[in-house]
Amino acid sequence: MILAPSILAADIAHLAEQIAAAERGGAGIVHVDVMDGHFVPNLTLGPAVVEAVRRSTRLPVDVHLMIDNADLYLDAFVDAGATRLAVHVEALPHLQRAVAHLRRRGAKAGVAVNPSTPLAALEEILPEVDYVLLMTVNPGFAGQVFLPSSLDKIRRLRQTLADRALHAQVQVDGGVTASNIRTIVEAGAEVVVTGAAVFASGDPETAARRLLEAAG
Ligand code: DX5
Ligand code: ZN
Repeated sequence: MILAPSILAADIAHLAEQIAAAERGGAGIVHVDVMDGHFVPNLTLGPAVVEAVRRSTRLPVDVHLMIDNADLYLDAFVDAGATRLAVHVEALPHLQRAVAHLRRRGAKAGVAVNPSTPLAALEEILPEVDYVLLMTVNPGFAGQVFLPSSLDKIRRLRQTLADRALHAQVQVDGGVTASNIRTIVEAGAEVVVTGAAVFASGDPETAARRLLEAAG
């Protein structure tokens, strides 16, 4: 299982140090939440910050696009150094085109689904993606509470992938803490995003290490 801290919850004034600390604690991916104030009710950051993240770490940089018209910005984020990018199924009518484009550009392509979006929405795209990002909170903010119904959704996604002999990675995002991470990993999460649980403590290194220990 790979821990992917989200810099949404980090102290942006000390971004490089915060990322380095999470990395020392065992983080394997850096997760960057991009929000546009339309698709989700919050504004965050763009390619310039992704470029700064890229310069501060050798870990894969995972960009989670919570924006409308994501297809217009894919190249900008890949050029900035994103190695994996997730686009929301709810935000893109031509999802396959975006996924194929990301792969052509040499990036890992992910599709993200909101809690109320059924897994059936992934049926056609599943063979073409490198990972599925299951939202386990309604996206927009760090520090929200994990939606318990998500556990069953994680299990059903893993089952579908096994039944269809597909190898997309299952990534879970939202509300993960040291108390629930083990259950989430046991349900089938392979990459686990954590914002507040890593950065709110003020000691990202210890927090990341504890999360990995708790995951078992
Ligand atoms: C939610 C974002 C997440 C989230 C993670 O809108 O996509 O990446 O902020 O933060 P926590 O782990 O605090 O829920
Ligand atoms: Zn995210």
